[in-house]
Amino acid sequence: MLYFGSLLFGINFAHGGTGVFDTDVAAPNMTAQIDLFEQLVKKHYGDIGLENSIALVTNSGNDYSAYMARNNGTLDPKDVMHFIDEVTTQLAANLKRIQALGVKKILYNVGQMNDESTNNSTVVVLDLCNAFLDILQGKDYESRFPEGLKGCCMGTSSEGYCAVVDEQWKPMYTVCKDPRKSFFWDMIHPTQAGWEAVYERLLPTLKLVE
Ligand SMILES: *[C@@H]1O[C@H](CO)[C@@H](O)[C@H](O)[C@H]1NC(C)=O
Ligand SMILES: *[C@@H]1O[C@H](CO)[C@@H](O)[C@H](O)[C@H]1NC(C)=O
Ligand SMILES: *[C@@H]1O[C@H](CO)[C@@H](O)[C@H](O)[C@H]1NC(C)=O
Ligand SMILES: *[C@@H]1O[C@H](CO)[C@@H](O)[C@H](O)[C@H]1NC(C)=O
Repeated sequence: MLYFGSLLFGINFAHGGTGVFDTDVAAPNMTAQIDLFEQLVKKHYGDIGLENSIALVTNSGNDYSAYMARNNGTLDPKDVMHFIDEVTTQLAANLKRIQALGVKKILYNVGQMNDESTNNSTVVVLDLCNAFLDILQGKDYESRFPEGLKGCCMGTSSEGYCAVVDEQWKPMYTVCKDPRKSFFWDMIHPTQAGWEAVYERLLPTLKLVE
């Protein structure tokens, strides 16, 4: 049974590897994730607490990596602009749907701004791209993350990457001693310490929805 206390720390509807559109990861796209949220709201919570809730909606790169995979690993700049429009249009529709379900405050990230980008007291842009650039190009980067851009968990051969094992279950990757010294966990994702640095940069924006 769900109880009200479980709401205090939030509920996650996101799935790794997914996008607003289907990707090659077999998990619900963002529309289906919002369907699950809607079902939960309707079945269990009614509108209790939704007006005081904040939705964090994030869409990073999975639509684009799936797009590249469909195009044999290439990105045609002209085509991709068109595709960015499709992604942001779908994302805007998703945000409106979450709003219509009764969530008053929404934070969402953008890499690519378009005319749907907005900052009002209810819908606030979380600019992850500039937060990352600030850190990666900042002058204290090397003292904070002495491992530079190198990921903590990295493949030891061209076929290996973080968490991959061979037929004998021998790891084809190594993990660094102190993940706090690396901004990146693997080739793509930040470490906990990396996300903490990003979070610090985003605090002023987060305060907009307090
Ligand atoms: C999301 O997934 C559902 C279920 O597979 C599918 O019907 C729908 O077309 C997808 N939506 C988008 C925007 O890709
Ligand atoms: C990708 O490569 C395959 C095989 O070479 C080809 O049939 C297909 O048309 C290519 N697709 C695109 C989008 O370029
Ligand atoms: C939203 O507000 C933040 C913080 O004040 C600002 O950095 C950002 O440029 C604004 N974004 C838009 C789309 O107005
Ligand atoms: C701000 O959010 C409200 C939802 O409460 C929406 O109706 C309105 O269109 C938004 N303003 C802008 C400029 O997008």
